[in-house]
Amino acid sequence: MKIAVAKGDGIGPEIMQAVLDIFSANKVPLEYEFVDMGKWVFDKGFSNGMTPEAQQTIESLGILFKGPMETPKGKGVKSVNVTARKTWNTYANKRVFQTLHGVDTVFSKAGIPIDITIVRENIEDTYGGIEHMLTHDVALGRRFITRPGSMQVIKYAFEMAQKKGARRITCGHKANIMKITDGLFLECFYEVAKEYPELKADDVIVDDLCMKLVVRPHEFDVVVLTNLQGDIVSDLCAGLVGGLGFAPSANIGDHICIFEAVHGTAPDIMGKNIANPTALLLSGLAMLRHLGLMENAAVIENALLYTLEQGVHTGDFGDKTKPSVNTTQFANTIIANFGKTPAHGLKPLLPNKPITQTIYKLDKNPLIMSKEMEEETIVGADFFIESSEQPLDVANKCLLHEGSLYKLVTITNRGTQVWPKGSVFTNVVNQYRCRFESINDAPLTQQHIVALYQSLTANFKVCSMEVLNMWAGKKAYSLAQGQ
Ligand code: NAI
Repeated sequence: MKIAVAKGDGIGPEIMQAVLDIFSANKVPLEYEFVDMGKWVFDKGFSNGMTPEAQQTIESLGILFKGPMETPKGKGVKSVNVTARKTWNTYANKRVFQTLHGVDTVFSKAGIPIDITIVRENIEDTYGGIEHMLTHDVALGRRFITRPGSMQVIKYAFEMAQKKGARRITCGHKANIMKITDGLFLECFYEVAKEYPELKADDVIVDDLCMKLVVRPHEFDVVVLTNLQGDIVSDLCAGLVGGLGFAPSANIGDHICIFEAVHGTAPDIMGKNIANPTALLLSGLAMLRHLGLMENAAVIENALLYTLEQGVHTGDFGDKTKPSVNTTQFANTIIANFGKTPAHGLKPLLPNKPITQTIYKLDKNPLIMSKEMEEETIVGADFFIESSEQPLDVANKCLLHEGSLYKLVTITNRGTQVWPKGSVFTNVVNQYRCRFESINDAPLTQQHIVALYQSLTANFKVCSMEVLNMWAGKKAYSLAQGQ
Protein backbone atom coordinates (compact mmCIF):
# COMPACT_ATOMS: atom_id res chain seq x y z
CA MET A 1 0.00 0.00 0.00
CA LYS A 2 1.37 3.34 -1.01
CA ILE A 3 0.37 6.68 0.51
CA ALA A 4 1.31 10.26 -0.33
CA VAL A 5 3.39 12.12 2.26
CA ALA A 6 3.96 15.89 2.39
CA LYS A 7 6.52 16.81 5.03
CA GLY A 8 5.25 20.38 5.44
CA ASP A 9 6.96 23.60 6.49
CA GLY A 10 8.57 24.79 9.73
CA ILE A 11 8.75 21.90 12.20
CA GLY A 12 6.91 19.68 9.65
CA PRO A 13 9.98 17.81 8.29
CA GLU A 14 11.33 17.21 11.83
CA ILE A 15 8.13 15.73 13.28
CA MET A 16 7.35 13.82 10.07
CA GLN A 17 10.82 12.22 10.19
CA ALA A 18 10.23 11.21 13.82
CA VAL A 19 6.86 9.61 12.98
CA LEU A 20 8.13 7.79 9.87
CA ASP A 21 11.11 6.48 11.91
CA ILE A 22 8.62 5.05 14.44
CA PHE A 23 6.56 3.48 11.63
CA SER A 24 9.65 2.04 10.03
CA ALA A 25 10.90 0.56 13.35
CA ASN A 26 7.47 -1.07 13.73
CA LYS A 27 7.65 -2.45 10.16
CA VAL A 28 4.42 -0.68 9.17
CA PRO A 29 3.68 -2.12 5.72
CA LEU A 30 3.37 1.19 3.88
CA GLU A 31 5.34 2.77 1.06
CA TYR A 32 5.58 6.54 0.82
CA GLU A 33 5.51 8.82 -2.19
CA PHE A 34 6.73 12.26 -1.12
CA VAL A 35 4.85 15.14 -2.74
CA ASP A 36 5.64 18.84 -3.13
CA MET A 37 3.23 21.01 -1.14
CA GLY A 38 3.66 24.02 1.12
CA LYS A 39 5.21 27.43 1.32
CA TRP A 40 8.16 26.81 -0.96
CA VAL A 41 5.74 25.57 -3.63
CA PHE A 42 3.80 28.87 -3.35
CA ASP A 43 7.12 30.69 -3.64
CA LYS A 44 7.84 28.82 -6.89
CA GLY A 45 4.65 30.32 -8.33
CA PHE A 46 2.10 27.52 -7.82
CA SER A 47 -0.83 29.58 -6.52
CA ASN A 48 -2.59 26.66 -4.77
CA GLY A 49 0.56 25.59 -2.89
CA MET A 50 0.99 22.24 -4.62
CA THR A 51 2.52 21.08 -7.87
CA PRO A 52 0.26 19.42 -10.49
CA GLU A 53 2.29 16.21 -9.94
CA ALA A 54 1.50 16.34 -6.20
CA GLN A 55 -2.21 16.73 -6.95
CA GLN A 56 -2.11 13.81 -9.40
CA THR A 57 -0.27 11.55 -6.92
CA ILE A 58 -2.67 12.32 -4.07
CA GLU A 59 -5.72 11.81 -6.27
CA SER A 60 -4.42 8.45 -7.44
CA LEU A 61 -3.29 7.17 -4.00
CA GLY A 62 -6.26 8.47 -1.98
CA ILE A 63 -4.38 9.00 1.31
CA LEU A 64 -2.31 12.05 2.23
CA PHE A 65 -0.27 12.16 5.43
CA LYS A 66 0.81 15.75 5.84
CA GLY A 67 2.88 17.96 8.07
CA PRO A 68 1.74 21.51 8.89
CA MET A 69 2.03 24.05 6.09
CA GLU A 70 2.52 27.78 6.21
CA THR A 71 0.14 30.14 4.47
CA PRO A 72 2.17 33.10 3.16
CA LYS A 73 0.71 36.26 4.72
CA GLY A 74 -0.52 39.21 2.69
CA LYS A 75 0.12 37.69 -0.74
CA GLY A 76 -3.54 37.08 -1.48
CA VAL A 77 -2.97 33.31 -1.64
CA LYS A 78 -5.34 30.83 -0.02
CA SER A 79 -4.24 28.36 2.66
CA VAL A 80 -3.00 25.13 1.06
CA ASN A 81 -4.47 23.27 4.04
CA VAL A 82 -7.96 24.59 3.38
CA THR A 83 -7.53 24.20 -0.40
CA ALA A 84 -6.59 20.53 0.02
CA ARG A 85 -9.57 19.78 2.29
CA LYS A 86 -11.99 21.52 -0.04
CA THR A 87 -10.61 20.35 -3.38
CA TRP A 88 -10.83 16.71 -2.35
CA ASN A 89 -14.10 17.04 -0.45
CA THR A 90 -12.81 15.77 2.87
CA TYR A 91 -16.09 16.85 4.37
CA ALA A 92 -15.61 15.59 7.92
CA ASN A 93 -12.80 16.70 10.18
CA LYS A 94 -12.50 14.30 13.10
CA ARG A 95 -10.44 15.34 16.10
CA VAL A 96 -10.09 13.10 19.14
CA PHE A 97 -9.18 14.61 22.50
CA GLN A 98 -8.34 12.15 25.25
CA THR A 99 -6.72 12.35 28.65
CA LEU A 100 -3.11 11.21 28.27
CA HIS A 101 -1.46 10.12 31.50
CA GLY A 102 1.80 12.01 31.90
CA VAL A 103 0.34 15.11 30.30
CA ASP A 104 -0.80 17.16 33.28
CA THR A 105 -3.87 19.34 32.97
CA VAL A 106 -6.28 20.75 35.54
CA PHE A 107 -8.67 17.92 34.68
CA SER A 108 -6.11 15.10 34.89
CA LYS A 109 -5.00 16.47 38.27
CA ALA A 110 -8.64 16.50 39.43
CA GLY A 111 -9.11 12.92 38.19
CA ILE A 112 -11.69 13.94 35.55
CA PRO A 113 -11.22 11.80 32.42
CA ILE A 114 -11.78 13.37 29.00
CA ASP A 115 -12.65 11.52 25.82
CA ILE A 116 -14.30 13.90 23.36
CA THR A 117 -14.46 13.52 19.60
CA ILE A 118 -15.21 16.68 17.66
CA VAL A 119 -16.53 16.26 14.12
CA ARG A 120 -16.27 19.53 12.28
CA GLU A 121 -17.80 20.21 8.89
CA ASN A 122 -14.80 20.88 6.70
CA ILE A 123 -15.86 22.43 3.40
CA GLU A 124 -18.62 24.99 3.83
CA ASP A 125 -19.51 27.91 6.10
CA THR A 126 -17.43 31.07 5.92
CA TYR A 127 -14.48 28.92 4.77
CA GLY A 128 -15.85 29.30 1.25
CA GLY A 129 -13.77 32.47 1.49
CA ILE A 130 -16.30 34.33 -0.68
CA GLU A 131 -15.81 37.87 0.52
CA HIS A 132 -16.28 41.28 -1.05
CA MET A 133 -15.87 44.92 -0.13
CA LEU A 134 -19.32 46.37 -0.87
CA THR A 135 -18.23 49.91 -0.13
CA HIS A 136 -14.92 51.22 1.16
CA ASP A 137 -16.35 50.79 4.66
CA VAL A 138 -18.29 47.57 4.34
CA ALA A 139 -17.01 44.02 3.86
CA LEU A 140 -19.39 41.15 3.26
CA GLY A 141 -18.60 37.44 3.61
CA ARG A 142 -20.93 34.70 2.48
CA ARG A 143 -21.71 31.73 4.66
CA PHE A 144 -22.77 28.59 2.85
CA ILE A 145 -24.53 25.83 4.76
CA THR A 146 -26.00 23.25 2.40
CA ARG A 147 -28.37 20.37 3.07
CA PRO A 148 -26.29 17.70 1.26
CA GLY A 149 -23.05 19.02 2.79
CA SER A 150 -24.55 18.95 6.28
CA MET A 151 -26.06 15.50 5.73
CA GLN A 152 -22.65 14.10 4.64
CA VAL A 153 -20.82 15.21 7.77
CA ILE A 154 -23.67 14.49 10.20
CA LYS A 155 -24.15 10.96 8.80
CA TYR A 156 -20.40 10.39 9.20
CA ALA A 157 -20.56 11.64 12.81
CA PHE A 158 -23.45 9.32 13.73
CA GLU A 159 -21.86 6.33 12.01
CA MET A 160 -18.54 6.98 13.74
CA ALA A 161 -20.26 7.52 17.12
CA GLN A 162 -22.07 4.21 16.77
CA LYS A 163 -18.85 2.34 15.88
CA LYS A 164 -17.06 4.01 18.78
CA GLY A 165 -19.82 2.87 21.16
CA ALA A 166 -20.59 6.48 22.11
CA ARG A 167 -23.46 7.16 24.49
CA ARG A 168 -24.23 10.69 23.41
CA ILE A 169 -23.94 12.81 20.27
CA THR A 170 -24.39 16.56 20.51
CA CYS A 171 -24.91 19.19 17.82
CA GLY A 172 -23.27 22.54 18.59
CA HIS A 173 -24.89 25.46 16.76
CA LYS A 174 -26.14 29.03 16.88
CA ALA A 175 -29.55 28.43 15.32
CA ASN A 176 -31.18 30.88 17.74
CA ILE A 177 -29.46 33.71 15.83
CA MET A 178 -28.62 32.19 12.43
CA LYS A 179 -32.03 30.63 11.98
CA ILE A 180 -31.68 29.72 8.33
CA THR A 181 -28.05 28.55 8.09
CA ASP A 182 -27.49 26.94 11.49
CA GLY A 183 -31.20 26.11 11.51
CA LEU A 184 -30.65 23.94 8.42
CA PHE A 185 -27.65 22.19 10.02
CA LEU A 186 -29.67 21.46 13.17
CA GLU A 187 -32.64 20.21 11.13
CA CYS A 188 -30.31 17.79 9.29
CA PHE A 189 -28.89 16.63 12.64
CA TYR A 190 -32.30 15.59 13.98
CA GLU A 191 -33.25 14.07 10.61
CA VAL A 192 -30.21 11.76 10.76
CA ALA A 193 -30.72 11.13 14.50
CA LYS A 194 -33.98 9.32 13.72
CA GLU A 195 -31.92 6.55 12.07
CA TYR A 196 -29.85 6.03 15.26
CA PRO A 197 -32.42 5.65 18.07
CA GLU A 198 -29.87 3.96 20.34
CA LEU A 199 -27.72 7.12 20.48
CA LYS A 200 -28.77 9.98 22.76
CA ALA A 201 -28.87 12.95 20.38
CA ASP A 202 -29.15 16.48 21.72
CA ASP A 203 -28.10 20.01 20.85
CA VAL A 204 -26.40 22.85 22.71
CA ILE A 205 -25.96 26.47 21.62
CA VAL A 206 -22.28 26.92 20.87
CA ASP A 207 -21.48 29.59 23.48
CA ASP A 208 -23.15 27.49 26.18
CA LEU A 209 -21.28 24.47 24.78
CA CYS A 210 -17.92 26.24 25.30
CA MET A 211 -18.81 26.95 28.91
CA LYS A 212 -20.05 23.39 29.53
CA LEU A 213 -16.98 21.84 27.88
CA VAL A 214 -14.74 23.74 30.28
CA VAL A 215 -16.86 23.08 33.37
CA ARG A 216 -18.05 19.50 32.72
CA PRO A 217 -16.02 18.04 29.80
CA HIS A 218 -16.63 14.45 30.91
CA GLU A 219 -20.33 14.79 30.03
CA PHE A 220 -19.58 15.08 26.32
CA ASP A 221 -18.78 12.27 23.92
CA VAL A 222 -19.18 13.12 20.20
CA VAL A 223 -19.89 16.72 19.17
CA VAL A 224 -20.68 17.75 15.59
CA LEU A 225 -20.47 21.37 14.46
CA THR A 226 -20.32 23.62 11.42
CA ASN A 227 -16.88 24.62 10.13
CA LEU A 228 -15.92 27.82 11.99
CA GLN A 229 -17.61 26.90 15.26
CA GLY A 230 -15.99 23.45 15.03
CA ASP A 231 -12.59 25.02 14.43
CA ILE A 232 -12.85 27.12 17.58
CA VAL A 233 -14.41 24.44 19.78
CA SER A 234 -11.79 21.87 18.77
CA ASP A 235 -8.94 24.17 19.82
CA LEU A 236 -10.78 24.66 23.12
CA CYS A 237 -10.84 20.86 23.51
CA ALA A 238 -7.12 20.67 22.65
CA GLY A 239 -6.58 22.96 25.64
CA LEU A 240 -8.53 20.56 27.88
CA VAL A 241 -6.11 17.69 27.19
CA GLY A 242 -2.81 19.55 27.25
CA GLY A 243 -2.59 21.77 24.18
CA LEU A 244 -2.08 21.59 20.44
CA GLY A 245 0.84 19.16 20.80
CA PHE A 246 -1.76 16.44 21.55
CA ALA A 247 -4.44 17.24 18.99
CA PRO A 248 -4.63 14.89 15.98
CA SER A 249 -6.92 15.38 13.02
CA ALA A 250 -8.36 13.21 10.25
CA ASN A 251 -10.01 14.81 7.24
CA ILE A 252 -12.39 12.20 5.89
CA GLY A 253 -13.90 12.15 2.41
CA ASP A 254 -15.48 9.44 0.26
CA HIS A 255 -12.40 9.16 -1.99
CA ILE A 256 -9.48 10.97 -0.39
CA CYS A 257 -8.52 11.29 3.30
CA ILE A 258 -5.93 13.62 4.81
CA PHE A 259 -4.29 12.94 8.17
CA GLU A 260 -2.47 15.81 9.89
CA ALA A 261 -1.84 17.43 13.28
CA VAL A 262 -4.07 20.33 14.31
CA HIS A 263 -1.13 22.62 15.12
CA GLY A 264 0.76 24.80 12.66
CA THR A 265 4.36 25.06 11.55
CA ALA A 266 5.62 26.50 14.89
CA PRO A 267 8.16 28.82 13.18
CA ASP A 268 9.48 29.92 16.61
CA ILE A 269 11.01 26.47 17.25
CA MET A 270 11.73 25.18 13.73
CA GLY A 271 15.11 23.64 12.96
CA LYS A 272 15.90 23.03 16.63
CA ASN A 273 14.74 19.39 16.81
CA ILE A 274 12.70 20.18 19.93
CA ALA A 275 9.11 19.97 18.57
CA ASN A 276 6.62 17.53 20.05
CA PRO A 277 5.71 14.89 17.42
CA THR A 278 2.79 13.43 19.46
CA ALA A 279 -0.06 15.15 17.57
CA LEU A 280 1.30 14.03 14.19
CA LEU A 281 1.93 10.55 15.58
CA LEU A 282 -1.66 10.32 16.88
CA SER A 283 -2.87 11.47 13.44
CA GLY A 284 -0.67 8.79 11.88
CA LEU A 285 -2.19 6.17 14.21
CA ALA A 286 -5.70 7.22 13.13
CA MET A 287 -4.48 6.74 9.55
CA LEU A 288 -3.11 3.25 10.30
CA ARG A 289 -6.46 2.24 11.85
CA HIS A 290 -8.32 3.77 8.89
CA LEU A 291 -6.23 1.53 6.64
CA GLY A 292 -6.85 -1.56 8.78
CA LEU A 293 -3.37 -1.67 10.37
CA MET A 294 -4.82 -2.29 13.84
CA GLU A 295 -1.94 -4.15 15.42
CA ASN A 296 0.74 -1.72 14.23
CA ALA A 297 -1.38 1.15 15.57
CA ALA A 298 -1.94 -0.52 18.94
CA VAL A 299 1.75 -1.43 19.52
CA ILE A 300 2.86 2.11 18.70
CA GLU A 301 0.07 3.74 20.71
CA ASN A 302 0.76 1.59 23.77
CA ALA A 303 4.45 2.53 23.50
CA LEU A 304 3.52 6.22 23.24
CA LEU A 305 1.19 6.00 26.28
CA TYR A 306 3.88 4.13 28.26
CA THR A 307 6.47 6.76 27.29
CA LEU A 308 4.21 9.60 28.45
CA GLU A 309 3.41 7.77 31.71
CA GLN A 310 7.15 7.47 32.37
CA GLY A 311 7.32 11.27 32.35
CA VAL A 312 9.39 11.46 29.15
CA HIS A 313 8.55 14.79 27.54
CA THR A 314 9.59 17.37 24.99
CA GLY A 315 10.03 20.97 26.15
CA ASP A 316 6.43 22.08 25.53
CA PHE A 317 4.79 19.93 28.25
CA GLY A 318 5.39 17.74 31.26
CA ASP A 319 7.25 18.16 34.52
CA LYS A 320 9.50 21.20 34.10
CA THR A 321 11.71 20.02 36.98
CA LYS A 322 12.76 17.02 34.86
CA PRO A 323 14.94 17.55 31.78
CA SER A 324 13.15 17.38 28.44
CA VAL A 325 14.22 15.28 25.47
CA ASN A 326 14.45 16.40 21.87
CA THR A 327 12.25 15.22 18.99
CA THR A 328 14.58 12.40 17.92
CA GLN A 329 15.10 11.17 21.49
CA PHE A 330 11.35 11.21 22.10
CA ALA A 331 10.78 9.08 18.96
CA ASN A 332 13.61 6.71 19.93
CA THR A 333 12.15 6.26 23.42
CA ILE A 334 8.80 5.27 21.89
CA ILE A 335 10.60 2.77 19.65
CA ALA A 336 12.46 1.35 22.66
CA ASN A 337 9.09 0.97 24.44
CA PHE A 338 7.42 -1.20 21.75
CA GLY A 339 5.79 -4.12 23.60
CA LYS A 340 5.50 -2.25 26.91
CA THR A 341 2.14 -2.05 28.68
CA PRO A 342 0.83 1.35 29.80
CA ALA A 343 -1.04 1.46 33.11
CA HIS A 344 -3.86 3.52 31.55
CA GLY A 345 -5.62 3.34 28.21
CA LEU A 346 -4.05 0.08 27.00
CA LYS A 347 -5.08 -0.52 23.37
CA PRO A 348 -6.06 -4.11 22.47
CA LEU A 349 -3.81 -5.79 19.89
CA LEU A 350 -6.41 -6.48 17.20
CA PRO A 351 -4.91 -8.17 14.13
CA ASN A 352 -4.19 -6.12 11.03
CA LYS A 353 -6.87 -6.40 8.38
CA PRO A 354 -5.83 -7.13 4.80
CA ILE A 355 -5.72 -3.84 2.96
CA THR A 356 -6.42 -3.30 -0.68
CA GLN A 357 -5.90 0.09 -2.18
CA THR A 358 -9.02 1.51 -3.83
CA ILE A 359 -8.21 3.69 -6.79
CA TYR A 360 -11.06 6.02 -7.69
CA LYS A 361 -11.23 7.29 -11.22
CA LEU A 362 -13.87 9.98 -11.51
CA ASP A 363 -14.65 11.44 -14.91
CA LYS A 364 -17.02 14.11 -13.67
CA ASN A 365 -17.75 15.97 -10.44
CA PRO A 366 -20.20 14.05 -8.26
CA LEU A 367 -23.35 16.15 -7.77
CA ILE A 368 -24.67 15.89 -4.25
CA MET A 369 -28.26 16.97 -4.15
CA SER A 370 -31.21 16.36 -1.86
CA LYS A 371 -34.75 15.68 -3.04
CA GLU A 372 -36.50 18.18 -5.27
CA MET A 373 -37.85 21.08 -3.29
CA GLU A 374 -41.43 22.24 -3.03
CA GLU A 375 -42.98 24.69 -5.46
CA GLU A 376 -40.93 27.90 -5.55
CA THR A 377 -42.08 31.45 -6.22
CA ILE A 378 -40.05 34.65 -6.36
CA VAL A 379 -41.65 37.19 -4.02
CA GLY A 380 -39.10 39.97 -3.96
CA ALA A 381 -35.47 40.96 -3.70
CA ASP A 382 -32.98 42.54 -1.31
CA PHE A 383 -30.85 45.24 -2.94
CA PHE A 384 -27.66 46.20 -1.12
CA ILE A 385 -26.99 49.79 -2.10
CA GLU A 386 -24.26 52.29 -1.29
CA SER A 387 -25.47 55.54 0.28
CA SER A 388 -24.25 57.93 2.93
CA GLU A 389 -27.66 59.55 3.28
CA GLN A 390 -30.13 59.23 6.18
CA PRO A 391 -32.58 56.27 6.11
CA LEU A 392 -35.57 58.46 5.25
CA ASP A 393 -33.76 59.98 2.26
CA VAL A 394 -32.81 56.49 1.05
CA ALA A 395 -36.43 55.38 1.48
CA ASN A 396 -37.80 58.35 -0.42
CA LYS A 397 -35.53 57.54 -3.37
CA CYS A 398 -36.44 53.83 -3.22
CA LEU A 399 -40.17 54.65 -3.16
CA LEU A 400 -39.74 56.22 -6.62
CA HIS A 401 -39.05 52.69 -7.93
CA GLU A 402 -42.10 50.90 -6.56
CA GLY A 403 -44.21 49.21 -9.23
CA SER A 404 -47.70 47.84 -9.56
CA LEU A 405 -46.48 44.37 -8.49
CA TYR A 406 -43.94 45.17 -5.76
CA LYS A 407 -43.37 47.67 -2.97
CA LEU A 408 -40.62 48.70 -0.57
CA VAL A 409 -41.20 46.91 2.78
CA THR A 410 -38.10 47.55 4.86
CA ILE A 411 -34.68 49.16 4.84
CA THR A 412 -31.99 47.81 7.13
CA ASN A 413 -28.46 48.80 7.98
CA ARG A 414 -26.15 46.02 9.16
CA GLY A 415 -29.28 43.87 9.51
CA THR A 416 -31.24 46.25 11.76
CA GLN A 417 -34.38 47.90 10.44
CA VAL A 418 -34.07 51.68 10.05
CA TRP A 419 -37.20 52.24 7.90
CA PRO A 420 -40.25 52.35 8.09
CA LYS A 421 -39.59 52.17 11.83
CA GLY A 422 -36.30 52.38 13.62
CA SER A 423 -34.31 54.42 16.09
CA VAL A 424 -32.02 57.37 15.58
CA PHE A 425 -29.71 55.67 18.06
CA THR A 426 -28.89 52.94 15.52
CA ASN A 427 -25.50 53.73 13.98
CA VAL A 428 -25.59 53.47 10.22
CA VAL A 429 -22.79 52.76 7.74
CA ASN A 430 -22.81 53.73 4.07
CA GLN A 431 -24.53 50.60 2.87
CA TYR A 432 -28.23 49.79 3.17
CA ARG A 433 -30.32 46.76 2.32
CA CYS A 434 -33.57 47.75 0.64
CA ARG A 435 -36.15 44.99 0.57
CA PHE A 436 -38.85 45.01 -2.09
CA GLU A 437 -41.61 42.42 -1.82
CA SER A 438 -44.44 41.58 -4.16
CA ILE A 439 -47.86 42.96 -3.30
CA ASN A 440 -50.04 40.21 -1.75
CA ASP A 441 -47.34 37.59 -2.46
CA ALA A 442 -48.05 37.76 -6.21
CA PRO A 443 -45.36 35.77 -8.04
CA LEU A 444 -42.63 37.83 -9.67
CA THR A 445 -40.25 36.83 -12.44
CA GLN A 446 -36.49 37.27 -12.77
CA GLN A 447 -37.26 39.89 -15.42
CA HIS A 448 -39.19 41.97 -12.85
CA ILE A 449 -36.21 41.81 -10.50
CA VAL A 450 -33.73 42.77 -13.22
CA ALA A 451 -35.95 45.67 -14.26
CA LEU A 452 -36.11 46.88 -10.64
CA TYR A 453 -32.32 46.50 -10.33
CA GLN A 454 -31.81 48.61 -13.42
CA SER A 455 -34.28 51.21 -12.28
CA LEU A 456 -32.58 51.57 -8.85
CA THR A 457 -29.22 52.27 -10.52
CA ALA A 458 -30.65 55.68 -11.51
CA ASN A 459 -30.37 56.68 -7.82
CA PHE A 460 -27.85 54.35 -6.25
CA LYS A 461 -24.81 52.18 -6.80
CA VAL A 462 -26.27 48.70 -6.26
CA CYS A 463 -23.50 46.60 -4.67
CA SER A 464 -25.24 43.25 -4.49
CA MET A 465 -28.65 41.60 -4.73
CA GLU A 466 -30.44 38.55 -3.34
CA VAL A 467 -33.70 37.13 -4.67
CA LEU A 468 -36.39 36.37 -2.06
CA ASN A 469 -38.04 33.00 -2.59
CA MET A 470 -41.11 31.39 -1.08
CA TRP A 471 -41.27 27.58 -0.90
CA ALA A 472 -44.74 26.10 -0.55
CA GLY A 473 -45.93 29.24 1.20
CA LYS A 474 -42.90 29.40 3.54
CA LYS A 475 -40.40 32.26 3.44
CA ALA A 476 -36.92 31.03 2.37
CA TYR A 477 -35.27 34.13 3.86
CA SER A 478 -34.92 35.73 7.26
CA LEU A 479 -36.80 38.75 8.54
CA ALA A 480 -34.85 41.90 9.34
CA GLN A 481 -34.06 42.66 12.99
CA GLY A 482 -37.09 44.69 14.07
CA GLN A 483 -39.12 43.99 10.90
P1 NAI B 1 1.33 27.06 15.61
O1 NAI B 1 0.42 25.91 15.95
O2 NAI B 1 2.32 26.81 14.55
O3 NAI B 1 2.10 27.54 16.91
C1 NAI B 1 1.44 28.01 18.11
C2 NAI B 1 2.35 27.77 19.31
O4 NAI B 1 2.36 26.37 19.62
C3 NAI B 1 3.81 28.16 19.06
O5 NAI B 1 4.34 28.69 20.24
C4 NAI B 1 4.48 26.84 18.73
O6 NAI B 1 5.85 26.80 19.07
C5 NAI B 1 3.68 25.85 19.57
N1 NAI B 1 3.63 24.52 18.93
C6 NAI B 1 2.85 24.16 17.87
N2 NAI B 1 3.08 22.89 17.54
C7 NAI B 1 4.01 22.42 18.41
C8 NAI B 1 4.66 21.17 18.57
N3 NAI B 1 4.37 20.12 17.78
N4 NAI B 1 5.58 21.04 19.53
C9 NAI B 1 5.86 22.08 20.35
N5 NAI B 1 5.27 23.29 20.26
C10 NAI B 1 4.36 23.46 19.29
O7 NAI B 1 0.35 28.27 15.20
P2 NAI B 1 0.69 29.67 14.48
O8 NAI B 1 1.97 30.23 15.02
O9 NAI B 1 -0.55 30.45 14.59
O10 NAI B 1 0.86 29.33 12.94
C11 NAI B 1 2.13 29.21 12.28
C12 NAI B 1 1.89 28.83 10.83
O11 NAI B 1 1.26 27.54 10.74
C13 NAI B 1 1.00 29.81 10.03
O12 NAI B 1 1.57 30.02 8.75
C14 NAI B 1 -0.32 29.07 9.90
O13 NAI B 1 -1.01 29.44 8.73
C15 NAI B 1 0.15 27.62 9.82
N6 NAI B 1 -0.86 26.65 10.26
C16 NAI B 1 -0.94 25.48 9.55
C17 NAI B 1 -1.83 24.50 9.93
C18 NAI B 1 -1.86 23.23 9.13
O14 NAI B 1 -0.97 22.98 8.33
N7 NAI B 1 -2.86 22.38 9.30
C19 NAI B 1 -2.72 24.65 11.08
C20 NAI B 1 -2.50 25.90 11.82
C21 NAI B 1 -1.61 26.86 11.39
